[in-house]
Amino acid sequence: MTFLHASEMRGGYGSGADILHGCTLTVQKGEIAVIVGPNGAGKSTAMKAVFGMLNLREGHVHLGGEDITQLSPQERVYKGMGFVPQTHNIFPTMTVRENLEMGAFIRNDDIEETIEQVYELFPAVKDKRNQNAGELSGGQRQQVAVGRALMTQPKLLMLDEPTAGVSPIVMDELFDRIIEVARTGISILMVEQNARQALEIADKGYVLVQGANAYTDTGAALLANPEVRRTFLGG
Ligand SMILES: Nc1ncnc2c1ncn2[C@@H]1O[C@H](COP(=O)(O)OP(=O)(O)OP(=O)(O)O)[C@@H](O)[C@H]1O
Ligand SMILES: [Mg+2]
Repeated sequence: MTFLHASEMRGGYGSGADILHGCTLTVQKGEIAVIVGPNGAGKSTAMKAVFGMLNLREGHVHLGGEDITQLSPQERVYKGMGFVPQTHNIFPTMTVRENLEMGAFIRNDDIEETIEQVYELFPAVKDKRNQNAGELSGGQRQQVAVGRALMTQPKLLMLDEPTAGVSPIVMDELFDRIIEVARTGISILMVEQNARQALEIADKGYVLVQGANAYTDTGAALLANPEVRRTFLGG
């Protein structure tokens, strides 16, 4: 079942030139979809477009069969989207626990169970819960950012470079946690600079170039594609 269907997105920032030139992204229920591509290709812009932070000049975004193209980011959170942006994805001067509480901003029910689930997924987040998030290591901050997004109990979790600036071991661990999240039925749409490793865990991969889909296939097929390997995966 197609859960996210963002079709033929075209648009840019404000009244500026188009950055996206007909970009299409789909994610099935419980699937991990990964977007890779060169710097400046428009990967973050595509994520923002899916989340409603960009006015599309063309194209549509459907979630669970519903057209949400006109909805604000906050309305999309109510519909089940959780977004971890590439930068500024935590509140550094608030404690880790406060970050999680802030993540639950749309909820007025009891959030303790979800906080416990985040602590279970990321034990380091639990250990550091009373510390300011800004004092954490890069990898721990990314865990807080993912945990914060999980607080709204999203059906689609969108991650823009969750492993940026972390060591290979921490990256592997984070990918394992992301797989764990997907197994609970949450769909994942993720941008990754560590293209090879990310495509290894991807059900579906997108290579984005200049705001448009250059290649779309299973993660395994993209990893095996000689052209993709040569041009985007360093051989
Ligand atoms: N807030 C903004 N206002 C205007 N232009 C922007 C803005 N953010 C990004 N751009 C432009 O949009 C283009 C695509 O940028 P984007 O950040 O989406 O690329 P990216 O694929 O995520 O790159 P990276 O791998 O470096 O994160 C770039 O030319 C960039 O200069
Ligand atoms: Mg980016």
